[in-house]
Amino acid sequence: MADDGSFSRSSTICFFLILMLSEVIGIRTGDHVFTRRNLLQLLNDQGLTKFLDLITKAEIQGTFTSTEEMTVFAFNNTAFDILPSERKTAIRKKNREETENFVKFHTVYKERILTENMLDNSRLKSNGLNQNILFVNKKRLQIGVDYDKTEQIFINGARIVKRDIYATNGILQIIDRVLEITSNKMAVPYLDHPDDPRVKGKQFYDLVRHSEARDELKNEAQLTLFVPTDKAMERINKEKLDQQRQNPQALKEIILKHRISNQVIFTSTVEFGTQWTPNSNIPILNKNTYEQVFVTSGDTTAQIVLGNVTVGNGVIHMIDNLLGFTYNNVMEQIIGDPQLS
Ligand SMILES: *[C@@H]1O[C@H](CO)[C@@H](O)[C@H](O)[C@H]1NC(C)=O
Ligand SMILES: *[C@@H]1O[C@H](CO)[C@@H](O)[C@H](O)[C@H]1NC(C)=O
Repeated sequence: MADDGSFSRSSTICFFLILMLSEVIGIRTGDHVFTRRNLLQLLNDQGLTKFLDLITKAEIQGTFTSTEEMTVFAFNNTAFDILPSERKTAIRKKNREETENFVKFHTVYKERILTENMLDNSRLKSNGLNQNILFVNKKRLQIGVDYDKTEQIFINGARIVKRDIYATNGILQIIDRVLEITSNKMAVPYLDHPDDPRVKGKQFYDLVRHSEARDELKNEAQLTLFVPTDKAMERINKEKLDQQRQNPQALKEIILKHRISNQVIFTSTVEFGTQWTPNSNIPILNKNTYEQVFVTSGDTTAQIVLGNVTVGNGVIHMIDNLLGFTYNNVMEQIIGDPQLS
């Protein structure tokens, strides 16, 4: 009898030990990780201290322990560490309300969103102040000669590096980049009034505004738009550009060489090398070994100099050339290009 008693006692202890352990490490079944932890505890377990710091600063810990379900796209510490110092400073300078909005932009309320239910080229409404959009991309990336077995999933260009971690009150997805809040403005008006002062595309905006491409671009539900910087536009032979302006049809054609309809493509999903497509009517992106990203359209290639500016209907990439336009004759090009002269 005494033996039976001690057996059941030790098995009870054993049971609780396993329970406690499973609470800490989670139980892995297939692709999903189940835990008995709430989101705030999970963020701690996963060592996401930089994300947690912002939650603390925003004083919204309660949101992550409440029974109201949500999905959290939390960046890991490396993502924060590799930010350029001016972005770190900008994040640190946010007051409590701004920090709250910033953190909540990384969440979707009242839904447990698993990666298997995320669709390529779809969008989610964040819990940011204006329900700012999160764009989802799903892509099998080519690694060496083999295609990756699992599809990679990107949220506004940030890759989900650890997926579908179950909390009692939601789902945690860990991403490799700190997100920037998607603007509520649509692409074309954004160029006129950019939220990000580094976006200088007024000259291209002027071209669009005076062209027949304007309405077509305005009505795009989703797009990727390549915008030559003002600096790039200033290098253009003015006479030639004015000739184009006189010809609305030609101008429209040039402008439309700068967009990809119905697709929101971030630079992080672009692969190495050129995907050769004969007579392609849409811009083609490729990346070189220095991680620089280029776009080719209308026999012209430009480099993306400021990428992933995310707006209400897609993404803008600032480029260093007007696409589909022969800049200058060769002599003018040599004189105009400091690297060649
Ligand atoms: C964050 O994710 C990246 C990409 O998977 C990884 O290289 C890095 O080590 C991670 N950082 C931490 C602190 O886990
Ligand atoms: C956005 O584009 C820039 C290129 O200007 C690149 O360096 C950066 O890694 C990209 N970020 C994301 C999240 O894709």
